[in-house]
Amino acid sequence: MPRYAECNAILQNPAWSHAEEPELLHPGSDILDLPASFLWMEPPDHTRLRGLVGKAFTLRTIEGLRPRVEQVVDELVDRAVAAGEVDLIEALAYPLPLTMICELLGVPAEDHPTVRRMSAGIARGLDPDVLLTPEEVAARTEAAREFIEFFGALIARRRAQPQDDLISALAAVEAAGDRLTAHEMLATLVVLVVAGHETTVNLVGNGVLALLRNPDQFALLRDNPDLAAPAVDELLRYDAPSQLTTRVATREIELSGHTFVPGDGVMVMFGSANRDPHAFDEPDRLDLTRYTGRNGVNRHMSFGLGLHYCIGAPLVRLEMEIALRALAGRAPTVELLADPPAYRPNLVVRGMTELPVRFTG
Ligand code: HEM
Repeated sequence: MPRYAECNAILQNPAWSHAEEPELLHPGSDILDLPASFLWMEPPDHTRLRGLVGKAFTLRTIEGLRPRVEQVVDELVDRAVAAGEVDLIEALAYPLPLTMICELLGVPAEDHPTVRRMSAGIARGLDPDVLLTPEEVAARTEAAREFIEFFGALIARRRAQPQDDLISALAAVEAAGDRLTAHEMLATLVVLVVAGHETTVNLVGNGVLALLRNPDQFALLRDNPDLAAPAVDELLRYDAPSQLTTRVATREIELSGHTFVPGDGVMVMFGSANRDPHAFDEPDRLDLTRYTGRNGVNRHMSFGLGLHYCIGAPLVRLEMEIALRALAGRAPTVELLADPPAYRPNLVVRGMTELPVRFTG
């Protein structure tokens, strides 16, 4: 089982590159036709491109979205409660991050379902090609083609008539000179949409499932709504929405008695590192107080670590904190109607196809 210390050592060492992941998991495949994003780059290009979008994801900028996230969450939760029985993936987990990332980017509301369909096709295709059916590979190609066409047209519209959104801001940088090419801009949008949406869906789903299976912890949250923020990190640790990443050695590296030579690949298993008993006390126990300011608790690995640490972490924390507050505060008793629920076949992105629940009382 890969341990926390080894995963940490790999992610913190820039001699392990992420640039080769497409070739490692999808050898010779058409996924390379998808414009490669900065997730799959190393400095200096990584630094330049991450810097361009970084401003939109600072803690301060994201905190400014709080009232809008609260409005979206309250509407979704109230509607779900009124319906009585719902699939929480459809009712909350999908629409919340989809709405927020689309609004940030400037995707019109009528196009949100198109974005959802395209990004699901790409997310399935992130798994190693050996695990995909020919139909899934073909669906990925089609989703990528559609994605490039859709966002290409939207970028052109925003270039002509800028608005107060991220696509307009990036289009202005692109137009201003040599800091962002049109290809890089498309790539950045692919990663923001797919990473910004598919993983958060699963955090909401996996997180709520964990609370329903641990009613004492759910009750603790109801009694202490301010636990919502630290609870987000514990839920991320407990059931990682993104299970793994890969790295390739760029020089000879010694690690835990192995000598890796340039070109050797490794998989960094976040889910495994997060449950390592050498890194966390009682790792299999859900403890919403684990991250309440106690010093010395290891960071979970669900947002990665090091150079490629998730840029969307502040947005995820905000969305999930507000969703937890609403579920604990606005919803009466929540009952799980299927345990275990059905899971998606994905390996990299771990989550359910549906989470049927009933609100009573
Ligand atoms: C629960 C939700 C999320 C999880 C679990 C998650 C997880 C991760 C992980 C593990 C990485 C590092 C990958 C690696 O080192 O190979 C990463 C990177 C990234 N994430 Fe997230 N993510 C989430 C949500 C988001 C959101 C909402 C956005 C954007 C709006 C986003 C944008 C990105 C980007 C752009 C990167 C690449 C950063 C870089 O290469 O410098 N993610 N994410």
